[in-house]
Amino acid sequence: MLLRLVAALLLLIPTGIAWAQQPVAWKTGREARAIERKVDALIARMTLEEKVGQLHLSGRGEGFDINQVRSGDMGAVMNFVVPAEVLAVQKAARESRLKIPLIIGLDAVHGFSTYFPLPLGQASSWNPELIEQAAYWTGREASAAGINWTFAPMVDISRDPRWGRALEGAGEDAYLGAVVAAARTRGYQRGGVATTPKHFVGYGAVEAGRDYNATWIPTSQLFDLHLPPFKAAFEAGAMTAMAAFTALNGMPTTAHRAMLTDLLRGRWGFRGFVTSDFGSISELRLHGIARDDAEAARKALLAGIDMDMMGDVYHKHLADEVRAGRVPMKAVNEAVRRVLRVKFHLGLFERPDVDPAAAPRQMQMPAAREVALQAAREGAILLKNADETLPVRDTVKSVAVIGAMAVPEDERVWTDPAGLGRRVITPLPDALRERLPKEVSVTYQPAFTKNCGTEFADKEAAIRAAAESDLVLAMLGEDCEFIGEAASRTKLGLPGVQQELLEALVKTGKPVVLVLATARPLILTWASEHVGAILQTFHGGTEGRTAIADILTGRYNPSGRVPMSFPRSVGQIPVYYGQLPTGRPEKPGERYASIYMDERAEPLYPFGYGLSYSHFAYANPRVSASSVRLGGSVEVAVDVTNTGARDGQEVVQLYIRQPVASLSRPVRELKGFEKVMIAAGETKTVRFKLEISNLGAHDEQGRYVVDPGEVEIYLGGSSRAAATTQFVVVRS
Ligand code: BGC
Repeated sequence: MLLRLVAALLLLIPTGIAWAQQPVAWKTGREARAIERKVDALIARMTLEEKVGQLHLSGRGEGFDINQVRSGDMGAVMNFVVPAEVLAVQKAARESRLKIPLIIGLDAVHGFSTYFPLPLGQASSWNPELIEQAAYWTGREASAAGINWTFAPMVDISRDPRWGRALEGAGEDAYLGAVVAAARTRGYQRGGVATTPKHFVGYGAVEAGRDYNATWIPTSQLFDLHLPPFKAAFEAGAMTAMAAFTALNGMPTTAHRAMLTDLLRGRWGFRGFVTSDFGSISELRLHGIARDDAEAARKALLAGIDMDMMGDVYHKHLADEVRAGRVPMKAVNEAVRRVLRVKFHLGLFERPDVDPAAAPRQMQMPAAREVALQAAREGAILLKNADETLPVRDTVKSVAVIGAMAVPEDERVWTDPAGLGRRVITPLPDALRERLPKEVSVTYQPAFTKNCGTEFADKEAAIRAAAESDLVLAMLGEDCEFIGEAASRTKLGLPGVQQELLEALVKTGKPVVLVLATARPLILTWASEHVGAILQTFHGGTEGRTAIADILTGRYNPSGRVPMSFPRSVGQIPVYYGQLPTGRPEKPGERYASIYMDERAEPLYPFGYGLSYSHFAYANPRVSASSVRLGGSVEVAVDVTNTGARDGQEVVQLYIRQPVASLSRPVRELKGFEKVMIAAGETKTVRFKLEISNLGAHDEQGRYVVDPGEVEIYLGGSSRAAATTQFVVVRS
């Protein structure tokens, strides 16, 4: 009877409860020491082949051999997303002689089942808590499917929108990049997956924006610009890292001992493992530093690459290299130690395997979709709003939505988690109908055959619909092959026939709102002169269209800010706010100045910029002390008033400049920001604490220097912030 009662009670418990989301983090103290002992004991029992197996990462697809998992020849897998398959492959590992569980990786870059805006779009929210939440839900959903490792966050800084992968990062700035890197690391790991800050290091600086191209980065810039987001991610607990495909100052990072070992392990004390990028060990031959795969394997391992992603090079050559005495066993042991250490810290030896029946319930939960909606709202940037074209006015009785992107089939750039949960995306016209008064008619014309906008479907029908409406909402941008890895472009206009369409729509004489979903800042110079309003999104994800409808109709007051400057023309690239001063600054009438003959020098929309339906005024910038010691700190405060008629969020930004130092310093450097909600008519005092030790810079020898002297402060709603104050840093 009792048994039956228990059985009945168990039936009442919904499946899914068996799965408990487990945060992952480095263990400390006794627990960490116990793990080191377990790792030692395990290594002592391993054959050379089993050791090499732990360094071998292979993926779902052609050629994948599950028997290698069973025989202990493969310690890591990737791209398994269907829970039943994840379970099968993990079970095979548990059947191996030493039963070492697999680490199971995936590019869960901006979502797993619920999709959030592209990382660049998340960064545009300038809201670290929200960004952390998006990563949390991504990690949690992936983890519910049995995945325990994400190849994210990408923390590469990029000042070049020609590079298609800019979408995966947080834009052009080291400070914003570091804040976002830490937030995403915390979120993912709280959601249950180990993170992989990538691509170590410098990938975002590929020459001429051409993917996989060489990078040339001065030491000072490496330390001040490219390394800070990595450092922040490791300080936030990141457990693995991925090396870049690229060569840094002539040395492919896959063989860069100074970076992977001396800096990362030595100076920074990183205890996790480093994976190569996809097949990049073998590419050392093509980089011209290895004669064959065996030499490539040797160089990579000795430089500090612990795991070979999809290259099969360690698997094929490493054991022979050890037997031939070209690679010391000790080096292999160290790499294995780092992999096993992460597996133990992740709790993989104790974690219950995925329950395929329970996984679907964990996908697209209302709370996840709520975060997706808020992230899409906060990540959308209002770039232009002439004569308050937006929100849609009461006088508008008919709206024409033009462009296939308004009705997306899907909203993801990376993974394909087949079969998990619904992926319901409300089309923009429907979302608008739900929000606008009943009497407003909303028509929709795709204009293009596909989302990419490369070919017209029925152009005339689109123009007719526009001409017959009071307001045209054109949803255009980059999609399909135009975004992501291997999608570098030299022309940064709207792809395909979209510019032609936009010009035809403008010609109707109707007010046009351009809604963009792109993967990078495009050149919007023509649009900025001809359309009424521009709302920029970086593919908003599952709730992208509902968020846009909320903004267009005024339900949500836009608050996104530019994370990467919008150039006026491709010839300006790289254009970014944190430039060094020049000896020949722009002066009216002066020819011998640092300007162009045929283009203005500054970007179209600068870093940090973004409009709101409210207006904000800055007053009383002030510092707590006019003179501060080198090791001290100073409080900066400013009063911000919402002078508009609506409540709204402002991103209050703090920039510094040191006008005289031992090295030339950028004209502005972001050192703090705070996103604050300010009610209409309200004034809020926003305070920042500046540690003087954080205001320094690196020299070409890699030494960090904090110079005494005057520090100028700029406070405002963009990198053109105008409220200023200053203090002086003194030696003692
Ligand atoms: C990318 C990495 C990614 C890997 C696995 C590579 O092509 O550069 O960022 O994690 O593929 O999909």
